[in-house]
Amino acid sequence: MNNHDIDIVKAGIGHAKLLAWIDEAVKLCKPDSVHWCDGSQEEYDRLCAEMVEAGTLIRLNPDKRPDSFLARSDPDDVARVEDRTFICSPTEAEAGPNNNWVAPAEMKQTLTGLFDGCMRGRVMYVCPFSMGPLGSPIAHIGVQVTDSAYAAANMRIMTRMGDAVLDVLGDEGDFVPCMHSVGAPLAPGEADTPWPCSETKYIVHFPEDRTIWSYGSGYGGNALMGKKCFALRIASAMARDEGWMAEHMLILGLESPEGEKTYVAAAFPSACGKTNLAMMIPPEGFDGWKVTTVGDDIAWIKPGKDGRLYAINPEAGYFGVAPGTSMASNPNAMRMLRRNCIFTNVALTDDGDVWWEGMDGEPPAHVIDWRGEDWTPDCGRSAAHPNARFTAPASECPSLDPDWEAPQGVPIGAFIFGGRLSKTFPLVYQSFDWSHGVYLAATMGSEATAAAVGQAAIRRDPMAMLPFCGYNMAEYWAHWLAMESRVPEAPPIFRVNWFRKDADGKFIWPGFGENMRVIKWIVDRVRGHAGALTSPFGLMPRHEDIEWTGLDFPREAFLDLTAIDRAEGLAEAEDQKAHFAQFDSHLPKALEQQREGLIERLNHAPEMWRAEE
Ligand code: GTP
Ligand code: SPV
Ligand code: MN
Repeated sequence: MNNHDIDIVKAGIGHAKLLAWIDEAVKLCKPDSVHWCDGSQEEYDRLCAEMVEAGTLIRLNPDKRPDSFLARSDPDDVARVEDRTFICSPTEAEAGPNNNWVAPAEMKQTLTGLFDGCMRGRVMYVCPFSMGPLGSPIAHIGVQVTDSAYAAANMRIMTRMGDAVLDVLGDEGDFVPCMHSVGAPLAPGEADTPWPCSETKYIVHFPEDRTIWSYGSGYGGNALMGKKCFALRIASAMARDEGWMAEHMLILGLESPEGEKTYVAAAFPSACGKTNLAMMIPPEGFDGWKVTTVGDDIAWIKPGKDGRLYAINPEAGYFGVAPGTSMASNPNAMRMLRRNCIFTNVALTDDGDVWWEGMDGEPPAHVIDWRGEDWTPDCGRSAAHPNARFTAPASECPSLDPDWEAPQGVPIGAFIFGGRLSKTFPLVYQSFDWSHGVYLAATMGSEATAAAVGQAAIRRDPMAMLPFCGYNMAEYWAHWLAMESRVPEAPPIFRVNWFRKDADGKFIWPGFGENMRVIKWIVDRVRGHAGALTSPFGLMPRHEDIEWTGLDFPREAFLDLTAIDRAEGLAEAEDQKAHFAQFDSHLPKALEQQREGLIERLNHAPEMWRAEE
């Protein structure tokens, strides 16, 4: 018996379908050996030690950052590759204009060619993982095979991975097969590189078979397949078929001094502050409030027995953006990163610790940058890659919610949507009803970098799901609209915008912890404690509806921050027309009606609507 035969007949596994799939994967990829990940600490430590040996990881100074490592990726493998990401549904219309599509048979042929022999000279790691607490009725299982020890180690942080998952899977359980290769086979005797990857990249999803194939990249969302590939793209298609929701949302717990607990789920596009909001520390004026973290990136939401919507965080760790994270912007994250984490593409200090732009204090006089080169503050380059990330276990998060692993999930009191918008959009408003809320979410977006002031175009990112929706976005909107009837009372929906700027181009709103003031108004609305005014965009707080203790924010500034310019509003409604037009006959009529409703309200509004009676 050769090495892989021994490993394939893993003692105790009676799941014929799983064994057959692994056998097929081994025959196709031709690895030197197969290793079934048991998920133990010893195994993780050994994988990390081997990667240190191979030069993939650098062990950080144990006195400064115990049990933590730095990885530097290939400079061409630093982020998700949206133009190489495919949704191969049976027809192009099912994938929709929001996705790249290739016919499944054609794509399978391409992939089979690429994967043939792709793991030569390498170990194939088999990583069984659960998205969601083990055995939770909301959770689902995947199995990733990968030739990247980095991916296997990160999967152990980001998911529940290992033997315990096989126990839950049993002999017949359903799993999503996830094939991953960095696409860099080694010839006999060929030396490896610290970050093997291929120039050719394919991140491919087959929603019909519920399978995923990822080739050529070792980075984040391309390689940790539980995250975007499974928990969003495949899960969104499963959710449509089964009547639930898979969303790019953080989940936040808020407990009032009276002990009333409310959970909210919030969707913001990538790099718009989900991790910050998920770990927010309330500012002065909020004594007795407790803010807790359930998740920072993904929410799976299902109707519960009591008719409310319940959410779990399918992940077990955080893969967060490092630059900009500081004791000033996110103290909980900084405390979470004290030990037990893997940093990717940050800078290495001379005393063996990590550094990135935006960290507290003065920049160090010298570091090794993310490319492994000397860096000094005056060298004109950034020391960390802008998309440098940390992988940290949820258990290290100081604000972790006591119910974050509750198998039934936590009840969602409100949905919040936001983007990065410098004008037109007020700080916060509530939708008039569910279908108006779906419209607010479907039209959200962030500004593409503006060449000149006033020319900022909105890159629409509906529900923050544009890169992650595994089917036609218009059908996804229809699914959102239909969810209303699956629960007796759907939660209220809000839009927020932390990023409005004044005439000098400065953020008007202080943001970060101060966002608690907006979140409290939202919680008060959920609980029926707070008033609101009707604006053309939606229901809005008056100055007196917000808790201001501890923040000097003049009434005038608040009125500017919440003002609605009729001309800007009408231009926005016009711009949405083109956005909707892409989806032609798939577009739910309710959304076009909402757009017309906005135009109608604006036409009856003053030239400059302000939040005063
Ligand atoms: P993904 O992990 O990519 O899905 O993104 P994320 O939503 O978790 O983004 P992240 O928390 O990394 O976004 C961080 C960026 O948002 C940084 O540039 C922060 O400075 C900025 N940011 C976060 N909160 C605020 C805020 O309240 N106000 C302002 N102005 N900027 C903020
Ligand atoms: C995002 O881009 O929204 C992320 C990072 O959360 S990644 O997992 O790399 O997709
Ligand atoms: Mn994300």
